[in-house]
Amino acid sequence: MKNLVILVSGSGTNLQRIIDTIDNGEIPNAKISLVVADRECYGLERAKNHNISNVLIPRGKNFSSELSKVIPENTDLIVLAGFLSILKPEFCENWDRKIINIHPALLPKFGGKGMWGHHVHNAVIEAKEKESGATVHFVTSGIDEGEIILQKSFSITENDIPESVAEKVHLIEYEIFPEAINKVLGN
Ligand code: GAR
Repeated sequence: MKNLVILVSGSGTNLQRIIDTIDNGEIPNAKISLVVADRECYGLERAKNHNISNVLIPRGKNFSSELSKVIPENTDLIVLAGFLSILKPEFCENWDRKIINIHPALLPKFGGKGMWGHHVHNAVIEAKEKESGATVHFVTSGIDEGEIILQKSFSITENDIPESVAEKVHLIEYEIFPEAINKVLGN
């Protein structure tokens, strides 16, 4: 059985997808041992609703060291599912190739500091991109720079606005996140 720790900051629909795909066997031999939130958010409620151990560690400069204290030693994979704090380099190095993140764009485009959520979709529309998508990648000390595990794109039409792009990105995320987790776990 592989143990996952999921980090969230927001509504947690990707967390929900992971919960559901573990339950229905699409992600076999895995369990979520802990959900960590860096702020009050609906993602934390989802963990509570499913009786998954959960903890709130307020964001800020001590986040990574506090996180190190609560992560079970037998953790196989730390999954950033709509998580907005930046993890300290030492933390990333300690868990090298054991932390993955989902990013709402086609990295290496539209990544880096400040590029999260609606900021990404606004920038994509502003730049008149012909496509967007989602990327799952390993987390390193360089923000959004780690090796890409899986990426999938869709076409942007002239009617698209940031909100519609966000919706399409989410659908792609629900598709590639479980697949990427399986790939990393060796399933
Ligand atoms: C997702 O689109 C995810 O890619 C993005 O936040 C959203 C969270 O949605 N993450 C980032 O922007 C990280 N840089 P969710 O809370 O419903 O899963």
